Amino acid sequence: MKILITGATGFVGSRFVARWQGEYTLLTPSHAELPIDNAEAALLYVGTAKPDVVLHLAAISNTWHCEQHPDESRAINVLGAVNMAQAAKAVGAKFIFFSSDQIYNGNEELGGLPETIAVRPENVYGRDKLEAERLIAEVDEAAVLLRATWMYDAELEGMRTHPNFVVNIANALRTQTPLSFATREYRGITNIREVVEILPHCFNIPGGVYNFGAENPLNTYDTALAYARLLQEQTPEAFIKVMPEELILPDTKRFPTHIRNISIDMHKLHAVLPHDVHFSTTMEGLEKFLERDTLI
Ligand SMILES: NC(=O)c1ccc[n+]([C@@H]2O[C@H](COP(=O)([O-])OP(=O)(O)OC[C@H]3O[C@@H](n4cnc5c(N)ncnc54)[C@H](OP(=O)(O)O)[C@@H]3O)[C@@H](O)[C@H]2O)c1
Repeated sequence: MKILITGATGFVGSRFVARWQGEYTLLTPSHAELPIDNAEAALLYVGTAKPDVVLHLAAISNTWHCEQHPDESRAINVLGAVNMAQAAKAVGAKFIFFSSDQIYNGNEELGGLPETIAVRPENVYGRDKLEAERLIAEVDEAAVLLRATWMYDAELEGMRTHPNFVVNIANALRTQTPLSFATREYRGITNIREVVEILPHCFNIPGGVYNFGAENPLNTYDTALAYARLLQEQTPEAFIKVMPEELILPDTKRFPTHIRNISIDMHKLHAVLPHDVHFSTTMEGLEKFLERDTLI
């Protein structure tokens, strides 16, 4: 199988390539080789390469940047994604798009949110991902649109790593710098290794929107404190005598008007994946992460 990956140098892309290089034929054009906001360049590159799958990861992934630069966000996160979907459709390649759980950030319902719920994203990034989903589905109803959660990994040599949940907490404990997490926020936080492992199973599922990541019934503060305790248990000598409670602090003021809930329900994707392929919950994923990685 030949897989063309846009955004192969990014956080997700670099880990996908590291995991699957050698098992699939991977085409990894750079930003300059395949500028996705150029429709002709996209058609030419994909038309020449003729991949079986286009895994579209290129995007502006920083929500704050999108808020400050809405025109750039639209050009890349909406129109660039549509360019790639059209190019994939032209050669009959399966199109896999990374959307986001930020699509749910205007919802007020509680609990894991299913794909069927009416959504009203409140920021540029969320609105653009939603519009991209809609336009891609018009181009190709077989496209798979994955609403990914916040992902994490250690900082690895040669791979891009954004500030993320496990790195932020490890740094707070290591440097004894307090860090606060919202008690009124619920979201899935997902181990990137599961994302990378599960992705190829999505190359032959029916088109449509799927939540894609860890379910998490805990609020973000409780998740952070539970993880910090696990981390301290694993490497107690690194933290001297400071208890995680002294450094991982509850922020009870954030999201004052309503609880911010972007946590996802995973039934739809899990129903189409093989029986033994599924995402762990956030806490299970963090435990697995610690079994294999020590950040300190
Ligand atoms: N990271 C998360 O936790 C998270 C959560 C939910 C959803 N997502 C979504 O998952 C996908 C992958 O995210 P990520 O964290 O891997 O992103 P990332 O680390 O920010 O990487 C983005 C990639 O896109 C490329 N790119 C940007 N603009 C481009 C353009 N005009 N043409 C071609 N390439 C371009 C970048 O290349 P250069 O650096 O060379 O410009 C880079 O390789 C994105 O759609 C993101 O919105 C991410």
